[in-house]
Amino acid sequence: DMGGHDTYMHKEISEQPDAVDRVLRGRIDDRFSTVHLGGLNLDAREARGIRRVKILGCGTSYHAGMIGAGLVESLARIPADAEPASEFRYRNPVVDPDTLYIAVSQSGETYDVLAAVQELKRKGARVLGVVNVVGSAIARETDGGVYVHAGPEVCVVSTKCFTNTVVAFALLALHLGRIRDLSVADGKRIIDGLRRLPAQISEILELEDEIKKLADLYADAKSMMFIGRVRGYPVALEASLKLKEISYIHAEAYPASELKHGPLALIEPALPTVAIVPDDELLEKNRAALEEVKARSGRILAVAHQEQEKADHTIVVPKNEDELDPILMGIPLQLLAYHTALSLGRDIDKPRNLAKSVTVE
Ligand code: M6R
Repeated sequence: DMGGHDTYMHKEISEQPDAVDRVLRGRIDDRFSTVHLGGLNLDAREARGIRRVKILGCGTSYHAGMIGAGLVESLARIPADAEPASEFRYRNPVVDPDTLYIAVSQSGETYDVLAAVQELKRKGARVLGVVNVVGSAIARETDGGVYVHAGPEVCVVSTKCFTNTVVAFALLALHLGRIRDLSVADGKRIIDGLRRLPAQISEILELEDEIKKLADLYADAKSMMFIGRVRGYPVALEASLKLKEISYIHAEAYPASELKHGPLALIEPALPTVAIVPDDELLEKNRAALEEVKARSGRILAVAHQEQEKADHTIVVPKNEDELDPILMGIPLQLLAYHTALSLGRDIDKPRNLAKSVTVE
């Protein structure tokens, strides 16, 4: 049932305010400015002993894990990174008892992720899951975890589950942070920010007509460049994947700082750049990247908290706490990919060559 929407993708994009509400519900503890995660199965002493966090997933879940790693580093001050599960599995990784491993999966059935979990467990590691489908294979194999509560996602491309997964990571990072060195004040700041998300997502969804017009303008591109920096880089990666999957337009994502190390050679009017430009401590750096692109007469579409002078178009999104901004900045780009694919007449819910869950190697 598409509930009045033309596609599941559109329905699922629209459901995000409710979905985010659901992942937060019942978990916030205002008294201690922290969260309760019932299924985590990790006590405070164990949480204090974690020396590293390694996040494993595929595709969109890997991108959500990249943002998750950034949240764990900034809120809990634990070194963290994300890696595609299959890469991890085949490079005979050093498995370390002080590392917390986290498997991320919407379906909970992705073979590469499941196999990585099994390999880790065989080696005695502690593995948690950040999973959407309750009772799925990965949920069962892991020692505990955080359910994402995005609800069923039917469209082959992931949208609401991406957003909810990142929010689930924010909860986990807040929880670990408050056991370690995150202050009550910072805990409260993040909780207040999390509570603002559903209404802010609704505000972004109201920009759909404007985004549709932009999509029509850019749909003639043969290729698109997505750039972002630190927190913005996984947003760029995910936006580029979304565009590829459903519009079949070639897209690349780069850290903004890497442009001058090569990809700047590609910039010309026929290759538009989508830039993630949050109003944070890196704003001036990001503006400099826009200038580099503009100087090569590249068209620029910015996603930012205020109009960007160097950009041809800016999608202005509401500001949250710096750490949570990536959650909001991805949403207009889901709509951009959607309307680009729509104007090209693509089969949005079932893109060619793809399956919803990849249960084979
Ligand atoms: O179910 P999972 O989250 O484990 O799936 C992982 C990827 O296969 C998935 O995210 C894929 O990249 C989607 N088509 C993204 O839109």
